[in-house]
Amino acid sequence: MITRTTALALDAADPLAKFRELFHIPDPTVIYLDGNSLGMPPKRTLERLTEVYEHDWATGLIRSWEHWLDLPQRVGNALAPLIGAGEGEVVLHDNTTLNVYQAVHGAIGLRPGRRAIAISADDFPTDRYVVDGIAAATGHAVQNDFEDLDDVAVVVRSVIDYRTAALVDVAAETARAHAAGAMVVWDLSHAAGAVEIDLRACGAQLAVGCTYKYLNGGPGAPAWTFVARELHDTIRQPIWGWFATENQFAMAPDFQPRADIARMMLGTPSVLALVAAECGISLSAEAGMKAIHTKGSALTEFAIELCDQLGFSTPTPRDRTRRGNHVAIEHRDAKAIVRELAARNVIFDFREPNIIRAGCSPLTTRFVDVFDGISAIAR
Ligand SMILES: Cc1ncc(COP(=O)(O)O)c(C=O)c1O
Repeated sequence: MITRTTALALDAADPLAKFRELFHIPDPTVIYLDGNSLGMPPKRTLERLTEVYEHDWATGLIRSWEHWLDLPQRVGNALAPLIGAGEGEVVLHDNTTLNVYQAVHGAIGLRPGRRAIAISADDFPTDRYVVDGIAAATGHAVQNDFEDLDDVAVVVRSVIDYRTAALVDVAAETARAHAAGAMVVWDLSHAAGAVEIDLRACGAQLAVGCTYKYLNGGPGAPAWTFVARELHDTIRQPIWGWFATENQFAMAPDFQPRADIARMMLGTPSVLALVAAECGISLSAEAGMKAIHTKGSALTEFAIELCDQLGFSTPTPRDRTRRGNHVAIEHRDAKAIVRELAARNVIFDFREPNIIRAGCSPLTTRFVDVFDGISAIAR
């Protein structure tokens, strides 16, 4: 029988508990179980933004561009070890939607003659819409399964299902797609900063994700693209901006894509947003992905046990190696419950058609939050 005392004991033994103190939590009575949609603000973000505002921008003025120009790659290098990417293989800019668009376009360019793009009909809407848009523009067919990949140019797939939290075997599925001659674009939006993943060891070549969820980068924080080094010479992306060209300031008549990850860039990066993303990423790096994943698994295990105890049904996998860091609770009144609880400072999110998502963000979520939040649903 799980009780509140069980939760408090787990918090007392939690090696990551001290990280919560590094976040700005103005109202400690709020029970926040939505860090899988928007992470909490690290205290250091405000300090660093103030510093950049006063020192780099106000004092340095245009001179600061000298060290801002390669900020998207520098923050990419800070993120790289958290996802198993190498130095120079990750760049941050814009949002996930745009990064998916570029990566899928780049992938189909590397597989001429193949006529389909494969994506699950249950995948996150923006990924599906982008794929539909590309297919409409290029004449590719959209295939909604991953069985026969012989005519598929690129598979687009979330590592963690945004509804159920089911975690795909990235190594096995990458190998299967590559064996059939298809490229794969992995979406790690729910995985980066949540679970331990080694993209290189999995054989992945293309991946994207956001930084505003488990990486605590802030609202609208820039997304990232991973391109394996072996593709840097050949991948072409559809938006030819001046930040992606060789000798950017030569103002040359023609676009010549850079030979490194910067060929995935577009135009002027959002410096303040990148600085905020860098702060969030630094906290995950300090905690370490192994410890983060271990705590995430323990929090979701605890949530699932509590659901069982309270009679809630959940489609979230029971095998901890097959799930991410949220738990989906099915309820026919899910939408109304989420709305009502939010008004009482208990924050989950709702996903169609009947899912209450309990996000467990290991740097900020306590076992007692999970206990109090799920108990509030029952009440
Ligand atoms: C799997 C997945 N992809 C993409 C996005 C969002 O894309 P964007 O950052 O462009 O809004 C989300 C947002 O929740 C997501 O869960």
